[in-house]
Amino acid sequence: WVLMATGRSPTNIAVIKYWGKRDEALILPVNDSISVTLDPDHLSATTTVAASPAFPSDRMWLNGKEISLSGGRFQSCLREIRKRARDVDNEKKGIKIKKEDWEKLHVHIASYNNFPTAAGLASSAAGLACLVFTLGKLMNVNEDYGELSSICRQGSGSACRSIYGGFVKWCMGKNDDGSDSMAVQLVNESHWDDLVIIIAVVSSKQKETSSTGGMRDTVETSPLLQYRAQTVVPSRILKMEDAIKNRDFESFARLTCADSNQFHAVCLDTSPPIFYMNDTSHRIISLVEKWNHSEGTPQVAYTFDAGPNAVLIARNRKTATLLLQRLLYTFPPQENDLDSYMLGDKSIL
Ligand code: DP6
Repeated sequence: WVLMATGRSPTNIAVIKYWGKRDEALILPVNDSISVTLDPDHLSATTTVAASPAFPSDRMWLNGKEISLSGGRFQSCLREIRKRARDVDNEKKGIKIKKEDWEKLHVHIASYNNFPTAAGLASSAAGLACLVFTLGKLMNVNEDYGELSSICRQGSGSACRSIYGGFVKWCMGKNDDGSDSMAVQLVNESHWDDLVIIIAVVSSKQKETSSTGGMRDTVETSPLLQYRAQTVVPSRILKMEDAIKNRDFESFARLTCADSNQFHAVCLDTSPPIFYMNDTSHRIISLVEKWNHSEGTPQVAYTFDAGPNAVLIARNRKTATLLLQRLLYTFPPQENDLDSYMLGDKSIL
């Protein structure tokens, strides 16, 4: 017999960035972070997990290609979920699995992303969150979301925020064992639903410096990181929480842009320096800054993760339409130089 479960998880985009770990093995961050979870119809991972006594080992395929499961992170997630597995009694299929049997049963995992992997679009967040969630479903784990979030964290830091919709805060926690480092939902997806997110895919090539390696170098060499984590981010987090609760777009946009720029400044302060943005990214920043300045109040926020792609957050649909027109005018689409996706309304393109 084969028992299967399928799940889907969206990715999330940080507006106050996570960058730097205080514990690499447990994936514990040096500061809190806040993100917005995207609509699963657009950027998400879909994962099917299957268990069978006929499987001699655990195996995984990503976008149809087999990948190694030997990495510590996958193993941590699998181990933590297996520990919490419960009895399964599937009458329809006539399958009964005892809690203790899950230790011996191997799994096959097939995961698909509907967007460029490793182009700095936090695909690991969706992928790992989906893996944990779907394994939990298969093994009848009924832990609360906080606990699942902390298991996702051990797969990839940003994944712990993808377990919730809306705006989400990852509380860094204080405990050495990481037991209090997990995400909480600040507001759900309907709280601020006139925001429109546009992702300008500047390049869908694999990024040169992985987030994991990049943040390790930053922790080891950047004097600016300590200042950011201890002095800047704590007060920014409080202001961002207020801006989100009050749907105050002006503060939200200023904080989002400032935090993205400081994250990239910290990357530049790393030795050797890390360049995630390229000329097109910089031109997009100038375009938004000039527009916001000419309007007198911000209309659009920008944020860039560990890659050159721009995530643009417009205050409403009207602004989003104007933004798309400006982007397409400034960067006429040619030879995959810049594809724009308007999330929530593809018909505008
Ligand atoms: C720039 O979560 O990919 O997107 O924990 O090492 O897997 P690991 O890193 P990852 O880092 C994401 C960094 C970021 C900012 C963010 O999402 O907060």
